[in-house]
Amino acid sequence: MESYIAGLLPEALVVDLPEIDAQHEEIFHRIESLKAACFESSYVPIDEFGALLDYFATHFATEERLADEAGLDFAEHTRIHTDTLRLLHKAFGEVISGGQDVHCFLRYAEYWFERHINEDDRLFISVLQASNRDRSSSQRHTASPCFGAQA
Ligand SMILES: [Fe+2]
Repeated sequence: MESYIAGLLPEALVVDLPEIDAQHEEIFHRIESLKAACFESSYVPIDEFGALLDYFATHFATEERLADEAGLDFAEHTRIHTDTLRLLHKAFGEVISGGQDVHCFLRYAEYWFERHINEDDRLFISVLQASNRDRSSSQRHTASPCFGAQA
């Protein structure tokens, strides 16, 4: 899975937080590469699917870290991440055992991810950016009396 497919993150899904946008794009690349690897065959590269699931976990942990650093209540979003990871692992177990179609799994993962970015991440990022703006604004207000005292 060496191929790199440029520009898989649609403009409409850009959330304007470079670390998160880069991870979202990487997940779309991995899904697209797996689609190509599995196309018209029954071959399932198990290690690469495992790497995709691990990357989902890494990405979710990044969002949870950012929320924690900003002091945001992220419990509901974290629950969505946890439930999704459990569901994806279960569904992939069914792919391995032959009870689930690999293409169906990939379509589901991609659909779920796109919807999650639009409905959950976009809201999270806007709250995070507002919180960061508030923090930098209050730091400026805290600093201003010092300047006033020196004037
Ligand atoms: Fe998320």
